[in-house]
Amino acid sequence: MASPITTDVLTAAKAIAAGQLCAIPTETVYGLAADATNPDAIARVFAAKGRPTDHPLIVHVEDLEAANQWFSQLPQWATKLATEIWPGPLTIVAKRTALALDVVTGGQDTVAVRVPSHPVAAKLLKQLSEIGIVGVVAPSANRFGHVSPTSADHVAKDLGEYLLAHQDLILDGGISEVGLESTIVLAIDDNPVILRPGAITQFDIEKITGLPVSISSENTPRVSGSLDSHYAPSAKVILVKANEIPNDLAAGYIGLGGVEIPSNVTVLLAAENIEDYATNLYRALRAGDQANLSTIYAVLPDGDDLAIAVRDRLTRAAH
Ligand code: TXA
Ligand code: MG
Repeated sequence: MASPITTDVLTAAKAIAAGQLCAIPTETVYGLAADATNPDAIARVFAAKGRPTDHPLIVHVEDLEAANQWFSQLPQWATKLATEIWPGPLTIVAKRTALALDVVTGGQDTVAVRVPSHPVAAKLLKQLSEIGIVGVVAPSANRFGHVSPTSADHVAKDLGEYLLAHQDLILDGGISEVGLESTIVLAIDDNPVILRPGAITQFDIEKITGLPVSISSENTPRVSGSLDSHYAPSAKVILVKANEIPNDLAAGYIGLGGVEIPSNVTVLLAAENIEDYATNLYRALRAGDQANLSTIYAVLPDGDDLAIAVRDRLTRAAH
């Protein structure tokens, strides 16, 4: 099969406009994009991912003005938050307009919208908007339950066989710098609620809005990434303390550097700092599978910044 990978944004825009699928780079992870107003294309997104059809999707748009076509009401604090953070790794869930189809929202009266900052995604969304396409759905471009992709190559490995040859595309924009999915904030009340932790932290949101921010412990498929077991590689992920890493031959290590790693263990990631940890976490989980390791020992990072999101994903990968 001819490689579906391209770097040409216009070709990608034309494919999406024609109702085809195109994986796109974003600063968080790669998404599998389709015209958010085309139910047939959206049905193919669910099929390619193997994702349950009641799990809602995030609509990706060019800017806040475009987002407001999807939102029927946006609390003032959320407008402020969007103005400060967008384009960036933040998704806002708010009451929807009729533009948001039931297949996008899972039949809910809310819709999730985000403005990505990756320059290739931004250019694509601008070109699409110029030809009248007001948003693309883009769930992470992995098979359901698997690790999210942070490169075009990861997408090709996960979804290559589920894409249509000579039609669907993968737009290559290099490595996703943040490396973890966007922070999701529920904006239907007086106060923000974080549904999924990410690079935009509780502290960031409190600072910008001046409001107390709560973190949802709710665990329903409304946020599919909130299922206990998710973001999982084939290797068994075991959480350990830095001074308790077993010296197993078929094992890998994921954690911060500066730790004494037993000689038999393959180092998948010895991160320099928490940003580096987040950027490379999914790549490292995939590398463990690539190397046929049966176990990955991971040491959770401390801290209340990006470390919260890293702990969240690793805990789910270990479930
Ligand atoms: O960083 C990201 O957000 C990436 C990139 C590609 O933009 N996308 C992503 O999509 O992570 P996905 O589909 O893997 O995760 C989207 C999450 C899901 O867990 C979904 O349940 C939640 O957003 N979501 C979507 N609409 C929602 C809604 N109306 N209410 C609550 N959660 C919603
Ligand atoms: Mg996902």
